[in-house]
Amino acid sequence: MTSSTAGGRLVGVTGVTGGLGGRVARRLADAGVAQRLLARDPARVPDLAGSTVGAMGDGYHDADAMRSALAGVHTLFLVSGGEAADRRDAHVTAVDAAVDAGVAHIVYVSFLGAGPEATFTFARDHWHTEEHIKTRGVPYTMLRDSLYLDVWPHFVGADGVVRGPAGTGRFGGVTRDDIADVATTVLAASSSGDTSHEGRTYDLTGPASISLAEVAAELTIACGQMITYEAETLDQAYASRSAYGAPDWMVTGWVTTYAAIATGELDVVTPTVNELTGHDPMSLAEFLARYPAEVDHLRPT
Ligand SMILES: NC(=O)c1ccc[n+]([C@@H]2O[C@H](COP(=O)([O-])OP(=O)(O)OC[C@H]3O[C@@H](n4cnc5c(N)ncnc54)[C@H](OP(=O)(O)O)[C@@H]3O)[C@@H](O)[C@H]2O)c1
Repeated sequence: MTSSTAGGRLVGVTGVTGGLGGRVARRLADAGVAQRLLARDPARVPDLAGSTVGAMGDGYHDADAMRSALAGVHTLFLVSGGEAADRRDAHVTAVDAAVDAGVAHIVYVSFLGAGPEATFTFARDHWHTEEHIKTRGVPYTMLRDSLYLDVWPHFVGADGVVRGPAGTGRFGGVTRDDIADVATTVLAASSSGDTSHEGRTYDLTGPASISLAEVAAELTIACGQMITYEAETLDQAYASRSAYGAPDWMVTGWVTTYAAIATGELDVVTPTVNELTGHDPMSLAEFLARYPAEVDHLRPT
């Protein structure tokens, strides 16, 4: 997986077996940036030119494996870990391992409006991680992503209804493709010695703010089956999700995703994707046109 054409300071990419990190790794390979692909399961790492593989052991919790995997890495793309009760600890361990390994720049995938009192409870974890990175004094870039547009086809119930306590709120959702384009810009610059993105926090949104009624209307057009939105109260939202048997912290995370739309905290649109990539971010309609298979499960049978 090595290539004589790949160059620059070494970039370490996490999450390469997932949607965002996988996109970033492919883009960096296309750009000829030397990278180490970090994964818990090295057998699932994509085969990309200019890359080597770093085994992360048990993942962000595994300080020893992280330090070894990061040896020689200049810039780390740190994809936030899967939601877990101890996610803050996992992120702290990963950041500390990176600093110990001599990483010179951490590019962290955070969330729009990350803060200690954010309505969306998982955004509080992101704020905690951001603060820890700053405390360690390592140069950083925070990519504060809005809600992914990609996920909405998969939030539709079997009855064709999107339900949640979002009221009539709006949000400036963004696609993983556009976040990956921004991340590639930042990482490639860092790899080439350009420090202009260090110390920056970027709010990354789509081109417009949309309501869940508008999301349902776009899904209806894309799949040819009526999709609707029904606003729940908070009590209804907790009750309708109790059947999944998930732990309280997870159910709260799910419910507060919608509640943060209702409060207006996610009603934010920035020009940052365009400023950093030179192209406009995709709307939900454009995303659904580019990826029609995303609504295959919603089409009339
Ligand atoms: N803005 C939003 O709306 C939104 C929505 C969903 C998620 N997110 C966040 O964005 C992140 C990336 O999104 P995605 O679509 O790429 O998610 P994804 O497709 O589920 O991929 C997650 C990636 O992170 C890795 N990972 C998860 N937990 C880890 C850990 N503890 N240690 C090491 N690696 C770990 C996974 O590795 P394995 O293959 O080994 O599991 C996988 O490669 C998510 O992890 C989540 O934190 C944001």
